[in-house]
Amino acid sequence: MSRLIVISNRVSAPSAQGGAQGGLAVAFQAALREFKGIWFGWSGERTDEFTGNINFQRNEGVTTATVDLEEQDIDEYYNGYANRTLWPLFHYRIDLAEFERGFADGYQRVNERFADTVRPLIEGDDVIWVQDYHMIPLGQELRQRGCENRMGFFLHIPWPPRRLLSSLPQAAELVATLFAYDVIGFHTEEWLDAFRDYVVNEMGAVLGDDGEIRLGDRTVIAIACPIGIDTKEFVAAAASPTARLTYRRIRDSADGRDLIVGVDRLDYSKGLEERFLGYERFLIDHPEQRKEVFLLQIAPPSRGEVGSYQHIRAQLESLSGRINGAYADIDWVPIRYVNQGFPRPVLAGIYRAARVGLVTPLRDGMNLVAKEYIAAQDPEDPGVLILSRFAGAALQMEEAVLVNPYSAEELSDAIATALAMPKAERLRRWRILMDSVEKEDVLWWRKRFTDVLIGEDEAEAESAEAQ
Ligand code: G6P
Repeated sequence: MSRLIVISNRVSAPSAQGGAQGGLAVAFQAALREFKGIWFGWSGERTDEFTGNINFQRNEGVTTATVDLEEQDIDEYYNGYANRTLWPLFHYRIDLAEFERGFADGYQRVNERFADTVRPLIEGDDVIWVQDYHMIPLGQELRQRGCENRMGFFLHIPWPPRRLLSSLPQAAELVATLFAYDVIGFHTEEWLDAFRDYVVNEMGAVLGDDGEIRLGDRTVIAIACPIGIDTKEFVAAAASPTARLTYRRIRDSADGRDLIVGVDRLDYSKGLEERFLGYERFLIDHPEQRKEVFLLQIAPPSRGEVGSYQHIRAQLESLSGRINGAYADIDWVPIRYVNQGFPRPVLAGIYRAARVGLVTPLRDGMNLVAKEYIAAQDPEDPGVLILSRFAGAALQMEEAVLVNPYSAEELSDAIATALAMPKAERLRRWRILMDSVEKEDVLWWRKRFTDVLIGEDEAEAESAEAQ
């Protein structure tokens, strides 16, 4: 049976306590437990000089292999091209995108370093699966080092509209490197369509059958394949003693008030300012509700060396302070704003205690918090999910209360609708949402992608062999 080699910037070994990990980390751990293989990437650590020494670790059935990077690599590749150039641009924030040749050079250099380091680990029939915007050119670098294995790439963020992407210097050169892969995956048809539009109209690629796209002598298959969560694991987390304790803690401190919850990395793409303003609008529009609800916004800081993240952090501190100052009473504070991450069972307990889940990114490749919120609900008395139309998840989760996150009035109306929703309607919507979160979970996602990557016949033969 072929091994799976997952390659991504961030590698996260499973931790015994469940850890404060994002949905993506949990997704790969679940995938790698099924397939034997290795998860390779950056350790998150700095070193004085890049050596390519690999640190192998094995935890709970997952082998990770990580390397340290030099200061200049981190500045130019991670803080620079990945998070000052590609991330804002791909999230439609051209106003925040910074174009510097040094960033592009550092990005290329680190991808070459990753290719040099991981190449000796790759065996004849291994299947390679590269993740996300940090590693777009890695496939081409591996091909140049003689790697003929099946190779897939998955983008976890949106693919921007053609005219936006055209503003990136050397965009076509970067996109051309994607043709080194055999399969390219996106979360939604919307991102896939935008990719096709770019490669056909800017680069002269030709569309074939069954998702095939030809450019010169290379043919790739491009698919839409929405990621899910490890639903069974999250449902179990919501029933764990830690989750129950957290649920109690929240309910006790809520003093009979309804909790509205948001959980996001502190990132400008998550629409947190707009969310606070929408919530403020709700407090203005519904003064009778003021002391009946509170918003708990959990926002662990992220990418703190990048200026736009320092800026959004300061903005949110000031905005939450202003709203609390304006509306709080001696026994009620409208926003509890918490800048730390929590282990998954704690989050599950918080989600379950929340009457409303507020997931309102301005643009998001998928958004797994929306799915976790649904999975954590009490099946007898579920809460209501308010979801941005601009999250990839909205295409699968139409029974959520869908909103335009830029409109404070729509947000305010959605909060009022969610709080007033009769139980029968909450149950009806939740059942449909939960069915899809259960059916299209992370194992389904992994299988769909690797079936296309390996070829379905071979995948079936391998699964028969494994049994
Ligand atoms: C998004 C990206 C991931 C990234 C994660 C956390 O979900 O798609 O690739 O790992 O954010 O960001 P960070 O910069 O902390 O790795």
